[in-house]
Amino acid sequence: MPEIAYVNGEFLPLERAMIHLEDRGFQFADSVYEVVRTYHGKPFAVDEHLGRLLRSLDAILLQHKFTTGQLHSLIEEAAMRAGFAESVIYLQVTRGRAPRHRGFPKSGEPTLVITVRELHATGHLRENGVRVITVPDNRWTRCDIKSVALLANVLAYRTAKEAGADDAIFVGADDTVNEATAGNVFVMIGGQLSTPPKGPKILAGVTRDKVLQAAKAAGLTSGERRIAKADLFEAKEIFLTSTTSEVVPVIEVDGKKIGPGKPGPIAGRVYEQFVRMFAGK
Ligand code: PDD
Repeated sequence: MPEIAYVNGEFLPLERAMIHLEDRGFQFADSVYEVVRTYHGKPFAVDEHLGRLLRSLDAILLQHKFTTGQLHSLIEEAAMRAGFAESVIYLQVTRGRAPRHRGFPKSGEPTLVITVRELHATGHLRENGVRVITVPDNRWTRCDIKSVALLANVLAYRTAKEAGADDAIFVGADDTVNEATAGNVFVMIGGQLSTPPKGPKILAGVTRDKVLQAAKAAGLTSGERRIAKADLFEAKEIFLTSTTSEVVPVIEVDGKKIGPGKPGPIAGRVYEQFVRMFAGK
């Protein structure tokens, strides 16, 4: 089965897909993206992802003529053409190709890229949990935009790996827990499951919203509230959520065990409900 790409109107094998050297996505990270997954071969929560893509495009003032219907069909077609049992579908829109200059190009078309790769199972993460470190949040103040400018995330992830951990959680200068390098954070403290409120310091995860719904349906008291760094060490359980890894228990933060230091029952309960409601596995 082929890994495929769609670049500005054409489907082709991934290794043959090309972007111009003067594309603003390449030169300035002047670009936003989405990551959609399939369940049973069918793209999941496409309307939610496209809603966020359109909000990201508006936020960076990128003028385009894309419609939700057109993008939806392209996602379905891309997944179908690739034909994997389960796929990760990556969409990226850039401000297009123009000689390198800070100013927006006066004319020119946005670049739209879609790639489809096979989605590999992440059950081992859920079963074993992950170790994380906390790092200062040195990102910009528009983390609600799904920008491809992820250098701070890349470096934080590297710092985590160098420390022998699996991921990093960004903590603001005011000691507020924001999110992980590629996922949202949930904590279970005093019988309450909490996640940081939406705002400019986090990406409003599609999985985060679904997990909040699943937690309610599973009978858990849950909601949005500020989480302080110290709360992490009080938590009975912590887990991360994202499209590709779903629900991943955190078993250690900065070298300290969370709860008994293994994946806990709440993450399991939430995940089971999530699957029942959304993933239909
Ligand atoms: N990232 N926060 C950040 C910084 C992320 O990069 C992601 C997901 C999320 C979770 O969002 P969602 O539940 O909508 O996937 C939160 C994707 C998967 C990525 O960059 O590959």
